[in-house]
Amino acid sequence: MPYRLTVLGTGYLGTAQAVCLASSGFEVLGVDTDPGKIAALADGVVPFHEPGLEPLLREGLASRRLSFTTSYADAAAFGDVHFVCVGTPQRPGSYRADLTQLEACIGMLAPLMAGSCLIVGKCTVPVGTAQNLAEQLRVLAPGTELAWCPEFLREGHAVQDTLTPDRVVVGVQSARAEAILRNVHAEQVAVGTPFLVTDLATAELVKVAANAFLATKISFINAMAEVCEAAHGDVHLLAEALGHDPRIGQAGLRPGLGFGGGCLPKDIRAFMARADELGVDQALSFLREVDAINTRRRTRMVDLARELADGFEGVRVGVLGAAFKPDSDDIRDSPALDVARTIHDLGAVVTVYDPVAVPQARRAHPELRYAESAIDAAQDADVMLLLTEWDEFREADPEIIGKVVNKRNIVDGRNALDPDRWREASWHYRALGRP
Ligand code: UGA
Repeated sequence: MPYRLTVLGTGYLGTAQAVCLASSGFEVLGVDTDPGKIAALADGVVPFHEPGLEPLLREGLASRRLSFTTSYADAAAFGDVHFVCVGTPQRPGSYRADLTQLEACIGMLAPLMAGSCLIVGKCTVPVGTAQNLAEQLRVLAPGTELAWCPEFLREGHAVQDTLTPDRVVVGVQSARAEAILRNVHAEQVAVGTPFLVTDLATAELVKVAANAFLATKISFINAMAEVCEAAHGDVHLLAEALGHDPRIGQAGLRPGLGFGGGCLPKDIRAFMARADELGVDQALSFLREVDAINTRRRTRMVDLARELADGFEGVRVGVLGAAFKPDSDDIRDSPALDVARTIHDLGAVVTVYDPVAVPQARRAHPELRYAESAIDAAQDADVMLLLTEWDEFREADPEIIGKVVNKRNIVDGRNALDPDRWREASWHYRALGRP
């Protein structure tokens, strides 16, 4: 008899988990305290943009293996294994993680637990959190065990990353918990996906260390972009040449406006805060620089735009991109919107277009103007800024866009365009880190 699984929290992580576990043949109950989200999911609608997720959600609902509820009592009665996928955002005014949702989730679930269930944390937490929760559970729900199984999915690739992960890491306290998690991941284990068994603390650390490394790699190439700008080098070519070394690799070495989103920025900050508490702040002091390099790219983008437009007062700026990266409508800590808002505050008239994130952007930044297409955003613009590298923008025709702008100026904040093509169409093309 396969395990019955619940997934608590149906954001990006939890929805992908619930849907993919159901597609692997498990009976799954998705749980969230937000009735709007649960109603949408139960109707077969994913309340955010994630390629490939909605068809799989509908298959899961049709198979009757997947259902949704707002009731923790239903969850407790339903499941043998409970995956905790709630958010752990940055605490306002602090670098530390806000664990309110996690504490509330465990607080609601624990008193309802009967028998020998397994609770599996999947969210990103400061090291030591799992041990604390395990101790609480020993009192609140004797017989219930805790494991930690970090998730490495990228937004925009959630289905693929969940169904075929690079590795599965399970932090456990018993052979029984390991056996349950091997069973849940049997499909991945069967095709040779590395399955690493660790203690709770190491499992928590694997996740934050991975995100710290990825952020460092991005800021490394962006630091090289700063040097290239001063030394008249080309960071795009530099990155390509570096990436051919298999010890370095091309992935995560795309220079540009830097990282944003709901994960890398807050995770490196929470990691620094936790290191501070542990008395090893020096070990992670380099992450402060990683964060600073990342922020400086946004400032440099504003400076380049100002240079090209010859000041901002009354200047019309067309912005391509609002999401923190392509294939997502997530605008959390979006570098694109940060730049757009700054330029607006400096006196420019800013019109933003994004293929999917305009509704979210409009809610967060009603002060900006929004367009229905790239060509609309370009209307009468004195300078265009490419801030999120959607394919639609890479493929845009510089001649067609050139017909509607006031001046053919473009700053490529993601090194996504072919400079020759734009220059041949008489555009003044500038990019971060390139001559
Ligand atoms: C990141 C990690 O890649 C996932 O492994 C992790 O599971 C996830 O955080 C999480 O903690 O939940 P994600 O935030 O979806 O995933 O986005 P990435 O694809 O890593 O991109 C992050 C940011 O870095 C984006 O703003 C992107 O534009 C930027 N980036 C990425 C670069 O500027 N250059 C690159 O070469 C790569």
